[in-house]
Amino acid sequence: MKYLTSFNFKRGYIIYPTLVVVVGVFDKNKRANFMSCVWNTALSFEPPLYGVSIAPTRATHDLILQSRSFSVCFYPFIKAQDVEFFGTRSYRDTDKSKNVNLLKSIKLEVPIPDSAYAVLECGLYDFNRYGDHTLFVGKIEVIHYDENVTYELFNMPVINLDKVKPVLYLGNGVYLTTDSNSILNLRA
Ligand SMILES: Cc1cc2nc3c(=O)[nH]c(=O)nc-3n(C[C@H](O)[C@H](O)[C@H](O)COP(=O)(O)O)c2cc1C
Repeated sequence: MKYLTSFNFKRGYIIYPTLVVVVGVFDKNKRANFMSCVWNTALSFEPPLYGVSIAPTRATHDLILQSRSFSVCFYPFIKAQDVEFFGTRSYRDTDKSKNVNLLKSIKLEVPIPDSAYAVLECGLYDFNRYGDHTLFVGKIEVIHYDENVTYELFNMPVINLDKVKPVLYLGNGVYLTTDSNSILNLRA
C-alpha cells in the first residue's frame, strides 16, 4: 500500500465514490438555485437532521443563510448532466432554474425539482464553519419521493435500483452508479 501523509482532498479522491446530492434554495425573488454537493450526510434520527458541507465561496452558502431553508435533492444517474451543470455554474452568472420544472413544496419555501426521485425539505437547524467549508445542518420537515421507483420495506420507502440509479461521484467530472446485481441481502 502507498500512503499520503499530508492529506488533501484535491489529491485524495480515494474517499470516493460518494452519493452526490443537489442542494436547492430560493433567493429573495423566488428564483431557484441549485448546486451539487458531494459532501453530504444524514446526521440524526431524532430530530431528523441532514448535513451539507458548502464552501463560503458558493453563492448557495449565503442564499441558505438568507432563506434559512434548503432542499436536498436526490438525482437519478440519467440526470448526471444536470448535476455536472449545477456543480460547474454559479447563481452569480447563470440562472440554473431555467430548465427545471418545480413541484409544490409542502411545508417550507424550498425548490422541489421534478427530476429528483426524492427530495428533503430542510429548515436551517444549525451551521458551523469547519476549515474552508460550512456544515449546514437541516431539520427534515418533509420527504418527497417517487413511489414509482421505490418499494415498501418495513413501512419505509426504499429505492428500487432496477427502476432508478443514484448518481455517485468520483471527482473531476466523473460520475458512476450502482449495479443492482451487486446487492447482498445479509439479513434475509
Ligand atoms: C459533483 C460535484 C460535487 C460538488 N460537491 C460540493 C460540495 O460538497 N461542497 C461544495 O462547497 N461545493 C461542491 N461542488 C462545487 C459547487 O457545486 C460549485 O462550486 C457550484 O458552481 C456552486 O454553485 P453556486 O455558486 O450557484 O452556489 C461540487 C461540484 C460538483 C460538480
